[in-house]
Amino acid sequence: MGILKSTINAPLSFEWIGQDICKWKHVVCDSSKRVKAIQIGNQNLQGTLPKELAMLTALTRFECQDNNLTGVFPYLSKSLQRLVIHDNNFNLFPSDFFKGMSSLQEVTIDNNPFSQWNIPDSLKDCVALQTFSAQSAGLAGTIPDFFGRDGPFAGLVFLDLSDNFLEGGLPASLSGSSIENLLVNGQNGNSKLNGTLEVLGKMKSLKQIWANGNSFTGPIPDLSHHDQLYDVNLRDNQLTGVVPPSLVALPSLKSVNLTNNLLQGSPPRFKDGVAVDNNMDKGRNQYCTDVVGQSCSPLVNALLSIVQPLGYPLNFAQSWQGNDPCANGWTGVICSGGNVSVINFQNMGLSGTICPCFAALTSVTKVLLANNNLTGTIPNELASLPHLQELDVSNNHIYGKVPSFREGVDVKYEGNPDIGKNEQTNPGHVGKVNNNNTAIIVGVTVMVVVLLVAGVLILVMFRRKAKRKLQNQSTIVVPPRYGDGSVAKIISGNISSLLSPSQSVYKGEASNMLIPIQILREATNNFSEGNILGKGGFGTVYKGELHDGTKIAVKRMQSTGFVDQKGQSEFTSEIAVLTRVRHRNLVALLGFCLDGSERLLVYECMPQGALSRHLVNWKQEGLKPLEWKTRLGIALDVARGVEYLHGLAQQIFIHRDLKPSNILLGDDMRAKVSDFGLVRLAPEGKTSFQTRLAGTFGYMAPEYAATGRLTTKVDVYSFGVILMEMITGRKALDDSLPEENIHLVTWFRKMLINKDSFRTIIDPTIKVDEEMLLSISTVAGLAGHCCAREPHQRPDMSHVVNVLSSLVQVWKPSETNVDEAYEIDFDMTLPEALQRWKQFEGNSHTIDIDVTSSTRHLNANNSYSDP
Ligand code: ADE
Repeated sequence: MGILKSTINAPLSFEWIGQDICKWKHVVCDSSKRVKAIQIGNQNLQGTLPKELAMLTALTRFECQDNNLTGVFPYLSKSLQRLVIHDNNFNLFPSDFFKGMSSLQEVTIDNNPFSQWNIPDSLKDCVALQTFSAQSAGLAGTIPDFFGRDGPFAGLVFLDLSDNFLEGGLPASLSGSSIENLLVNGQNGNSKLNGTLEVLGKMKSLKQIWANGNSFTGPIPDLSHHDQLYDVNLRDNQLTGVVPPSLVALPSLKSVNLTNNLLQGSPPRFKDGVAVDNNMDKGRNQYCTDVVGQSCSPLVNALLSIVQPLGYPLNFAQSWQGNDPCANGWTGVICSGGNVSVINFQNMGLSGTICPCFAALTSVTKVLLANNNLTGTIPNELASLPHLQELDVSNNHIYGKVPSFREGVDVKYEGNPDIGKNEQTNPGHVGKVNNNNTAIIVGVTVMVVVLLVAGVLILVMFRRKAKRKLQNQSTIVVPPRYGDGSVAKIISGNISSLLSPSQSVYKGEASNMLIPIQILREATNNFSEGNILGKGGFGTVYKGELHDGTKIAVKRMQSTGFVDQKGQSEFTSEIAVLTRVRHRNLVALLGFCLDGSERLLVYECMPQGALSRHLVNWKQEGLKPLEWKTRLGIALDVARGVEYLHGLAQQIFIHRDLKPSNILLGDDMRAKVSDFGLVRLAPEGKTSFQTRLAGTFGYMAPEYAATGRLTTKVDVYSFGVILMEMITGRKALDDSLPEENIHLVTWFRKMLINKDSFRTIIDPTIKVDEEMLLSISTVAGLAGHCCAREPHQRPDMSHVVNVLSSLVQVWKPSETNVDEAYEIDFDMTLPEALQRWKQFEGNSHTIDIDVTSSTRHLNANNSYSDP
């Protein structure tokens, strides 16, 4: 500290005098009088930092932001949790600085003239990282592939890499990441960040995207499931394609900037209240008109549909200007008499598939697509083109049967090795068709084309009227999830009558998800025994695979030959809930099917099945028992899913049937809550209400079982039981035990009273050391708290998430002694803990002295300790 004092020329105002450095201003010590924080930000300091700072081994927080410090930034303690050094003049940052920094949560190093460096591999050691902010910090090279869900950062929410020298693409591994704020704008290198923005569509936690000032190409991805996204800045790139209606309609959106790209189609009209800098200067984007919200001509729309499955190539977007393809010399489009006569896309390096929507160009005589990298099949619709004389698809990767064209049409398809075969042999291109599927695809795509063309015309003439009419008819558009993945399918039907008004189903959204039973039969091998994943009172769950390889789980509700009231209600409830809520810890509903008395629900597949298989039945299932760390992660995932249901989804949903068999696991052992058949939506403004009793004994909160009054605390109770099962490996009710021990919660409370008996209840498959014991006892305390007798004594799920996330971040096997780890703990979670704790106190009042509460109290360390 003495050396630091001299190298930064500590001003007198610091009062860095005397031997007791713990009395120095801006310095905080721990109880053993070791320096744990140095906070010298914004002090107009000049000078350097000494390498001796590394000797402060208890240092958890170092802040020196907004000064004029220079030189090489020194190594610091491996216990560091917060590093805030932005806006200085440091010129070198050691690339192995992050090695072993497993407690580091925040790195803010923006605006320093560091000599160029790559994002170092050692950053992977920072498993607790929540914020990495390195704007204008000399970063070069590419964005590494460890920021995603499969990387080490379970809690990373803020990633700012803007204003650096980064190049290359956004890595596909970002898919599924927890990042909420992604700022990669304004790269200064030659090639900047480039490639497509496709992965953003799979980062559903995003709230803010700044990708402006780069060289990104291709279309804006579908962001319709990004229910928290409020700020999107994509200006100054080379983005092409139509602005997705899903972005325009996004309810959470507050600010959007798309200026200076090559966006096509109709200029989007965002809703009132969204700040839009969507510069309409001609040439800034390639919209077909200057009038916001005005539709493009049907011909423009048809051509844009054709290039959509080709990824809206740049050369087309650059040349396709205005609203009349025949007046403006559009690349690849030749007209005659005001109509498109030739499509010439030969030798353009195109990849993607041939759109059946070519059928909309009824005047076309030649479709020339030779010498590209096209995949998929030749759509049958092309055979219906009345004036077609020549179709040339030679030298591509087309497979499948060549449709029967009229006599006289010259069809050229040489140089496609798999033409005529039912599947593609080239492993680089996925594709498999069978004739039944082709028939379905063809059928629905014909309807797509017909409705698309008709829709466009109707829209132009009678926009409002048409909209109402389409809604009344419940025309159902199934998103392109099955089939070849590129073509939307339209199925007509009327589901409104099946979805009762009391279920408050979002009919509009649900109606997008109807799936024909034939597709599900094919996906599940006609519901064969071998595909059964599980059975329950509700019916049977089958595994399946769509033709594009998507793995699905199909829940076939018990069919009694007629549609019974209870089954129907659970079916519609599930659809109603899952079309309104989207969260990475809630299993996603992909679609559903109504066919006679058949009711089927289609979900994403969770390959590791239910938690119950791994917790209690692991031996019979031939599985390994779960490690404690895995159990903690699962608990946090479930807590996050339920927290979202309870409030973050804007409305209050109560699950009512949380239990291990309703928690599903992926191959990465991350968990999602499933089975929303019993979910109830709290009436507007009400947090407590009466319902018919439903749920599972052993998990049901006592007040709900006794009175039927439902609050979110009913789920908190069930969650507490699940935690108890995770700690003990025991079932919620176990008839094989003596009477007084049958009920897990009662037994658990009893055993928790003293430390010695507590050790005996831990699942014997967990190899417990002292450090782990601390973590387990915290969770045990939390479990008891969740199962408090009175609902108001139980915490909210946000509190549960808080406690578990601090444990997931902190708990890891290491050599550090327990006291030290404990102290780090304290410092790390305090501000958040206090804030949440205050909230919690406000909501739930103090814990009374009874068996439950007297055994544990939440302290400011956000952990539960013995009294
Ligand atoms: N069992 C019930 N639902 C399931 C799903 N979505 N994935 C795997 N197994 C399941």
